[in-house]
Amino acid sequence: MSLPVVFLVLFSAALLAAGEIRYSEIRSDDRTIIPFDEFGFTHRGQLELNVTQLSLSGPAPDPSTLSKVGFFLCTRDAWIHVLQQIEDSEINCALGSDAVQKVFTFDRLPNPTTSEFNFLYPETDANQYTLVFANCLPQLKVSMNVRSAMYNLEGGKSNRRDYLSIGKTVLPRVYFLFSLVYFILAAVWINILYKKRLTVFRIHFFMLAVVLLKTLNLLCEAEDKSYIKRTGSAHGWDVLFYIFSFLKGITLFSLIVLIGTGWSFLKPYLQDKEKKVLMIVIPLQVVANIAQVVIDETGPYGQDWVTWKQVFLLVDVVCCCAVLFPIVWSIKNLREAARTDGKAAVNLMKLTLFRQYYIVVICYIYFTRVVVYALETITSYKYLWTSIVAGELATLAFYVFTGYKFKPEAHNPYFAVDDDEEEAAAEQLKLEDEFEL
Ligand SMILES: *[C@@H]1O[C@H](CO)[C@@H](O)[C@H](O)[C@H]1NC(C)=O
Repeated sequence: MSLPVVFLVLFSAALLAAGEIRYSEIRSDDRTIIPFDEFGFTHRGQLELNVTQLSLSGPAPDPSTLSKVGFFLCTRDAWIHVLQQIEDSEINCALGSDAVQKVFTFDRLPNPTTSEFNFLYPETDANQYTLVFANCLPQLKVSMNVRSAMYNLEGGKSNRRDYLSIGKTVLPRVYFLFSLVYFILAAVWINILYKKRLTVFRIHFFMLAVVLLKTLNLLCEAEDKSYIKRTGSAHGWDVLFYIFSFLKGITLFSLIVLIGTGWSFLKPYLQDKEKKVLMIVIPLQVVANIAQVVIDETGPYGQDWVTWKQVFLLVDVVCCCAVLFPIVWSIKNLREAARTDGKAAVNLMKLTLFRQYYIVVICYIYFTRVVVYALETITSYKYLWTSIVAGELATLAFYVFTGYKFKPEAHNPYFAVDDDEEEAAAEQLKLEDEFEL
């Protein structure tokens, strides 16, 4: 896929549904349960429902039975309880359970032909809720356009609205702080490049580009989240954010591959198989980014959410495995070279560096994928931001490690080795061979 097409896809997907105020269209739907959105309320939360173009089709329902059709809020624990109640035949409709908070049932419509209504529901019980629509009349089909906005009121008298879930409300500040840190990193790196300009390779400029893209990416994410926090919609910052995410994703994975191959500081060219890895990783990153946009914008109850989530996970796993190959190849080559060309110490230094890099890449991947996900699952909805901070800290550590270990060196290691070190290194390599390490 060419780059303009990708941007077009990213752009149009972002325009579809931007922000935390959601617009959903329901057309002739007879599902018993339609989940909408999840939100963490403080004790000053509010839910705003605006329903338009409402029409009920099917055999004309008795107005009194319409109490079995409507919106409710429900926590995860309460939902498990409701399912249990339904299984035990205590109730036959989720709206009949006392564990859910009824927001609006259709028997409250002024008359059956009403086609629109607005409703404001104050939520004083702080918790994480899902907004759900239930339709327990088997033959009734519902069509409607729903605008749902969930927010918390903050401040004393000003009653400002905060459209970010309680666990995410500090995110704009978090992202902004991290973007500052990366900005400083970029400045430090430029300084290093200038001071060591005689030993700078092309890869070092590439690393600078990755750090700058990461800075811009975080800055846009901070701005995006802060707009959503204040207004409930993203005002186009999400588009910039997705564009920088996309560029950052591609450059970061390429950088890991290029460093893994030793390109530009060990050798000036790429082998065919190394190029193939890049040719696999880059298009997969394009797919991963499109999947990410769809996942973010449709919310967990969108029709294709699960499919895209699976696509994203699969592609991500493949990318993560693919970037490890070049490092393994380099380690193998360096061991061969150490045995044959008689410069054991120099090669051992490089070998150690590449082995460390291999382990750090694995730790980075494992931490940002598995540990962050686990944290997200186990932390309370109020502290959702902690898993994001953990992930960003791991990423930061990875960037700093990579920069530190592969920075331009003023001293050529070839001249810095004396005979003792050479002997010791040769000895170690021999030992390693014996134990097949
Ligand atoms: C939606 O409903 C709320 C609550 O009744 C109302 O204050 C608001 O103006 C409505 N918004 C729109 C866009 O109709």
